[in-house]
Amino acid sequence: MKTLSQPTLLILSLSLLFLTLHFPPTQAKFAGLGIHRPNSPKQARQLAASAAHDDESGDFVTFYYNQTLDHFNYKPESYTTFRQRYIVNVKHWGGADTNAPILVYFGPEDRIDYAWTDIGFLTENAPHFKALLLYIEHRYYGESVPFGSWEKASRNATSLGYLNSAQAIADYAAIILHVKQTYSAKNSPVIVVGGSYGGMLASWFRLKYPHVAIGALASSAPILYFDGVAPGDGYYSVVTKDFKEDSKSCYETIRRSWVEIERVASKPDGLSLLGKKFKTCRPLRRTFDLKDYLDSMYAEAAQYNEPPEYPVSIVCRAIDGAPDGDVLGQILAGVVAYKGDSSCYDVYDSSPPTASDSAWKWQTCSELVFRIGHDSDTMFPPEPFNINSFTKNCESRFGILPQPHWVTTFYGGHDLKLALRRFASNIIFSNGMRDPYSSGGVLKDISDSIIALSTVNGSHSLDILTSRPSDPDWLIKQRKTELEIIGRWLSKYYTDLVQLK
Ligand SMILES: *[C@@H]1O[C@H](CO)[C@@H](O)[C@H](O)[C@H]1NC(C)=O
Ligand SMILES: *[C@@H]1O[C@H](CO)[C@@H](O)[C@H](O)[C@H]1NC(C)=O
Ligand SMILES: *[C@@H]1O[C@H](CO)[C@@H](O)[C@H](O)[C@H]1NC(C)=O
Repeated sequence: MKTLSQPTLLILSLSLLFLTLHFPPTQAKFAGLGIHRPNSPKQARQLAASAAHDDESGDFVTFYYNQTLDHFNYKPESYTTFRQRYIVNVKHWGGADTNAPILVYFGPEDRIDYAWTDIGFLTENAPHFKALLLYIEHRYYGESVPFGSWEKASRNATSLGYLNSAQAIADYAAIILHVKQTYSAKNSPVIVVGGSYGGMLASWFRLKYPHVAIGALASSAPILYFDGVAPGDGYYSVVTKDFKEDSKSCYETIRRSWVEIERVASKPDGLSLLGKKFKTCRPLRRTFDLKDYLDSMYAEAAQYNEPPEYPVSIVCRAIDGAPDGDVLGQILAGVVAYKGDSSCYDVYDSSPPTASDSAWKWQTCSELVFRIGHDSDTMFPPEPFNINSFTKNCESRFGILPQPHWVTTFYGGHDLKLALRRFASNIIFSNGMRDPYSSGGVLKDISDSIIALSTVNGSHSLDILTSRPSDPDWLIKQRKTELEIIGRWLSKYYTDLVQLK
């Protein structure tokens, strides 16, 4: 897979899915679930990882599986198939004779071209576990699109209707069983791994397919962010907390800036003054657009607030370092520090939404209804999630109504501990508490084997990403603990295998 070693910005660009693109003017967007943020330092990681794992040897081999379009009924059209991409690496595998394990990465709402360089949890631990590595791309993303093309697959709600999490994990089950059969690995234990939405899928997979996977590592998986299980203001409360804890004065400046933006805008020619002040590439049409741009920047900095750079600190050092008394000048300094020095700033993101953006939009408009808004007591202007305008928008865009209660009906979520503690086992829910999505994560142990592993200063899905020499001790320790826990699951499995077979 020589071609895959060419670094591109593709995977990086999906980190945040800005819903404003499709929403009425006053509806706030929120950060998407992707495990990457678009710019450095993740980009640096990407390049380094790419070089480190440059696959000269061809150890990562791509296959395509004829996947069933619809797993859940037997109408003739359900039997239609599409090509679903998966990647296998057997280099370190101990083999079928020893029932050596299989580590499976669940592709999230993105193509998987770079999963094998990004997801260090698999590559770095393959020798330790003597594991076969398997990466599976999610249906409707990347190359794994039904109906022959994205244009056809995305034509309308009828063709998009097969895009949902239940179909996706059924795909994963089919491919895992197919790979086990191919390698005669019937008794090889499977551990599924995912980050963000992929982490949600990993934890749900363990609950629905215990006969296929013996355990799951669900990194930064906000499975409780549905149907009112976690409070709706969680996301922006954590963003606010991150900034406040980094610097009280920075937080105060941001908090004050929204009113200041409105004050300047209300002057004669105010929008043009504001546009000049913030060096916008195109004239500002309304204050909302600038506020939304800043909102996304703060959210992104918080979600991907990773060491050693800590983007929140980068923004706050600049805000605190600029001359006092000029609030907007301070905010601009934060923009310059975060986005880099530039002749202008693209408040109106000129790149069109990608296929993955649109596919994710369908998923959040149908099944995965994240109620994320600015409720109260955040550093943002109050703007609670509005289910009515959200619903109207999804209806006009896709002709369907969101089903906000389905996730908890199908997978659970309410009273999770009560439901799972005697029923389920072998799931790690890892979180970084600086990640705004941790507010929808499982943060307390449910049982001896359903374990919450949080780090105070961690960000989104950091633990499963490729390690770096600068990684702090707490991150190294989190990864090591995950390894030990999975090692225990495996030895118990092998004991059972001897006793029961
Ligand atoms: C998958 O489907 C294609 C087209 O129907 C067929 O040519 C191919 O042989 C199938 N592959 C497998 C592995 O069944
Ligand atoms: C979607 O498009 C197909 C093909 O054009 C058509 O047959 C079908 O009726 C459409 N469905 C809806 C809900 O518009
Ligand atoms: C988290 O970061 C803060 C400063 O940013 C530091 O004071 C604290 O010791 C860190 N906590 C841990 C557990 O590393």
